[in-house]
Amino acid sequence: MSEIGTHYDERSPIADELRDGQVHMWYWYDEEDQVPLRDAVHRITRKVTDTLGLRSGERLLDAGCGPGETAVFLAKRYGAEVTGITLSGYELDQAERRSAANGVAHLTRFERADYMELPFDDGSFDAVLALESLQNAPDPARVFAEFLRVLRPGGRVSFSDFSLESAREPERVATFMSTLKLPQLPTLGEWLEYATAAGFEIEEYTQCGPRVYGRKSKYIKAALEQREELLAKFGQAALDEFARRHHGFFVPRKDQIGYVIVSARKPRG
Ligand SMILES: C[S@@+](CC[C@H](N)C(=O)[O-])C[C@H]1O[C@@H](n2cnc3c(N)ncnc32)[C@H](O)[C@@H]1O
Repeated sequence: MSEIGTHYDERSPIADELRDGQVHMWYWYDEEDQVPLRDAVHRITRKVTDTLGLRSGERLLDAGCGPGETAVFLAKRYGAEVTGITLSGYELDQAERRSAANGVAHLTRFERADYMELPFDDGSFDAVLALESLQNAPDPARVFAEFLRVLRPGGRVSFSDFSLESAREPERVATFMSTLKLPQLPTLGEWLEYATAAGFEIEEYTQCGPRVYGRKSKYIKAALEQREELLAKFGQAALDEFARRHHGFFVPRKDQIGYVIVSARKPRG
């Protein structure tokens, strides 16, 4: 697991800068949509977390919290008590800094922990969020079993992630997977099956890949517009290395990679 921690230690600083503390995808309605990258990324934060139906004071586990922007947003917007976990020391420091800077440190706590083996008691959360973090799970079935265990009866889980949409040209998909360190790339049906096999009841799902991975050319354009800013902060060598490592992300055809948002509930018993 330390390999994944290092992956995010190395990747997140530039990704964080580009996307304002949200190390995840974007959502653009069409090619003419002029919303800036940071706002397009925030649309995903909102779309995924809306499906949780959070209420004030609820206890949320943000499993794979990145540099903390999502936790801060949820603490501010809902007054939720957010516990964020990540494998990356860089993300942990950033999450704590960001939470304090936004005045919500009393509502958030962050830990370095593995979602395969959660250090929390049974039934200790009202909701669990996994925003693009299950993609790195060596054993998704085990992670869903852990989510079920730490949720109270009636608690909710929402997750979003990539899905496999076409088995044609598998070598393109293999390059994508090794770039992002994905042990598997489930179809929407397989994602739903992981959740139901663990004991969850599916309540909602969306496939919005064409507005997410399908808009990768808009992302490239937006990232290039921030080039001078990034250059001043990180230097040419770091930018070149980031581009070299992420080349494989762009290799699949637009219609090969989907994006699913799923919300499910632990039965009330
Ligand atoms: C693509 S980033 C998404 C971060 C954040 N949810 C966001 O949307 O900005 C994936 C996150 O999953 C975390 N992660 C991956 N494997 C994990 C594991 N086994 N246990 C805990 N966190 C994990 C990484 O540390 C990272 O924070």
